Parts: sequence; structure tokens; C-alpha cells
Amino acid sequence: MATKQQRLDDLKQSIIDDKVTPELAESATQLVFGDGKIDAAVVLIGEAPGKNEDLQGKPFVGASGKFLNEMLEMIGMQREDVYITNIVKYRPPDNRDPKPEEKKAFLPYLQSQLEIIQPKVIVTLGRHSMNCFLPDLQISKAHGQPKRVRLSLKENSEDTLEVVIMPLYHPAAALYNGAQRQTLIDDFALIPSIIKKIT
Ligand code: URA
Repeated sequence: MATKQQRLDDLKQSIIDDKVTPELAESATQLVFGDGKIDAAVVLIGEAPGKNEDLQGKPFVGASGKFLNEMLEMIGMQREDVYITNIVKYRPPDNRDPKPEEKKAFLPYLQSQLEIIQPKVIVTLGRHSMNCFLPDLQISKAHGQPKRVRLSLKENSEDTLEVVIMPLYHPAAALYNGAQRQTLIDDFALIPSIIKKIT
């Protein structure tokens, strides 16, 4: 039986072997697969790597990553305590929004990643990430409100994962908008009570 780390390594390699979004793969420096604790109860999911992430090969290492680290510290956690990834795993050129077909192409890999890690709480960062799991919700209304859901992780399979999804604003957007920044900080502060309830 392969270990979680081996399964994640194989999954990462399969994104390359399957030539997922070849145009993005061509323009990006490297694949940004994910980072952190592979047994984490909490997984945070952003949109797509930016410039710094593309260069370093790790998610959330730029300005929004710094903000994310500060918020984790605020709730007594560190990056090493959580697992962080993105929906789209190559940097879109000029930091444009990921296209629907790019998000769709990466979804099965994100689902497999979650199936391996088996988190109890998924914190979605921004509307793209939230809409992957909760397609009908609007981030302006749903942020900060945890939703208990049963996710189907594979097509035509009984495989499901029961998790709480906590939709949050994206730290990059909140960084430059004072009101949204405070809302994100307030929403983030609710995470420990969710973890306590569910673990
Ligand atoms: N924004 C994201 O959505 N993901 C990153 O990894 C960095 C910035």
C-alpha cells in the first residue's frame, strides 16, 4: 500500500504526464502542486499560482501568502499545521483569472488530492475556489458561513468525503480593500471553533 506522500507524488507526476492545460504548462515556470502537512485536518484552496509561487514552486509565498501566514498565526496555527493548494496548478499568464476550462481540467486532480489527504475542513479562498464546491453561492453572501457537505470525489463512485467548507474572501483581494480585509480577518478567526466542533 502506497503511503500518502507516494500517492501525492504520483498524482503530481500524473498532472505532467497527462499534459493538463498544456498552454499554461508551457508559459509557467513550474507546477505548483501544494505544500504543507499531508495529514492536515484543514486544507486551504486558492485560485492559481502568481508570480512568486511560479518561481518558488509553492502556493501562497507572495504578498497574499504573507497575509495568510499572519492570519494563521492569529489563530495559533502555522503553515506546517495545514495543507495549502490551488485549483489551477500552473500560473496563468499575467495573473489573469483562471478560465472555466482550466478549472475544469484540474478539478479531478484537486479531488484526488483531497481524497488522499482526507481533510475535515476545507477553507476556500475566493469565489473561484468556493464555486468549485458550492457552485450556486455568492461569496459576498456566503463568506464566513461554514457549510457541511458530502463531496463526491470521483465520477461514478461511492467515494465521498464529509467535510465542512468555510468560504472566505481571497487574501489578495482583501489586501487592498480595507473593509474586506477586516471581514476576512473576522471570518478567519472563526476557524478554530469549526475545527474544535468537527475533530
Ligand atoms: N493566489 C492564489 O490564489 N494562490 C496562490 O498560490 C497565490 C496567490
